[in-house]
Amino acid sequence: MIASRLAPPTRPSKNEIAHLLTEARDRTLLLVSGLSDEDLHRQHDPLMSPIIWDVGHIAHFEELWLTQNLDGPIEFSEMPGMYNPFEHPRATRASLALPTLAQMTTRLKEIRARVLARLDGLEWDDDNPLLEGGYVYNMVLQHEYQHNETILQTLQLKKGEPYLAPRAISFPRRPLSPGGMVGFEGGRVTVGTTDRSAAYDNERPMHDVNLRPFLIDRNAVTNGRYLDFIADNGYQRGELWSDGGRRWRAESGAIAPKYWSRDGDAWIHRTMDATRPVDATRPVCHVCYYEAEAFAKWDGKRLPTEVEWEAAASWDPSTQSARRFPWGDSDANSSNANVDQLSFETAPLGTYDSNVSPIGCYGMIGDIWEWTSSDFNGYAGFESFPYNEYSEEFFGSEYKVLRGGSWATRPGAIRNTFRNWDYPIRRQIFSGFRCAQDA
Ligand code: AVJ
Ligand code: FE
Repeated sequence: MIASRLAPPTRPSKNEIAHLLTEARDRTLLLVSGLSDEDLHRQHDPLMSPIIWDVGHIAHFEELWLTQNLDGPIEFSEMPGMYNPFEHPRATRASLALPTLAQMTTRLKEIRARVLARLDGLEWDDDNPLLEGGYVYNMVLQHEYQHNETILQTLQLKKGEPYLAPRAISFPRRPLSPGGMVGFEGGRVTVGTTDRSAAYDNERPMHDVNLRPFLIDRNAVTNGRYLDFIADNGYQRGELWSDGGRRWRAESGAIAPKYWSRDGDAWIHRTMDATRPVDATRPVCHVCYYEAEAFAKWDGKRLPTEVEWEAAASWDPSTQSARRFPWGDSDANSSNANVDQLSFETAPLGTYDSNVSPIGCYGMIGDIWEWTSSDFNGYAGFESFPYNEYSEEFFGSEYKVLRGGSWATRPGAIRNTFRNWDYPIRRQIFSGFRCAQDA
């Protein structure tokens, strides 16, 4: 995305926008075009939509915001019909009369042609908050990026033949980055952003927070450490689990991360069509909040709050200012972090040695979403924009905040201030964690 954290928004050119829209669609189609209509229409898991629904929803969200709402009723219209997520909960979407991929492809092209024509004739009006810094285009792009990650969760859950992942990146073996914990000295830090060109409403307003000194893991918790927890009967020891965690453990019967299984004495795990021994040097993935919480307790630690997480990723004590990314202000890409999907897996620690924050935390962007101990709420002074079904609808104690993005996250949908959220029992998401401690 094209904006720095504090600078006045620079508006992308019409050409850049058109290019980004095309690029986003190419990726969506790359992910789904090898699938049969049966696979696209099947409900692979009650938690997920049929993939063709995500594709149609992407297109109709684009039509809604880049044609209708751009032409500006004061009250923005809602998504009509079949693709309105609130009218049709995920588990019911397979019974909708969803089009075939061929019909859908025609519909995608037809919508896109109108969107590009509208863009071509657009008059930039910076008094229209939808257009400020190209916001509405960045919002629609990020929506497609986020649904790509949702589609990947579904593909990992896929019934029948496993999904043949179009892998384009493999990881060289590198020396491990340093381990242990690093200290954050505490004091006043700035979190959130003033950006209105790409940031979501829930990332604003930018504000100061006073933090106590704390320690935080340099790296995400690895499979190796998680295996130690399992071997030490971590799942069986009630005192490590919160009430919610004990309930989840009893209901789920889980004894390991999702997608892990036993192979004699060893553990193996599956990522799409690849089943391999669990690699001790990679971040643990597909754990729920309660598993993260129990592990932290077992390790004599706790989860970071989301503000501690953001400070550890962004705050530079030497300049007393926040960075947009751990390494600085330049955007994420698949050379500086394990993002953008095409690796289809987590990377061994040490793979991206420049992916380090000012205080020395590695891999905060990419690989796995990191659970924090924070409930998802608006920052003081939050203002819903441009519609309250993106963030506000979900505020409250039901959801926990995750930070940092995963291998399945597109670069345009991640930055230090980006806030994701989910139920604490969910683990079909690409989720792991790192631990913290009071200093
Ligand atoms: C921010 C990932 C929780 O998938 O529910 C997609 C993103 N919002 N369409 C979700 C989203 C509307 C959202 N998360
Ligand atoms: Fe959506």
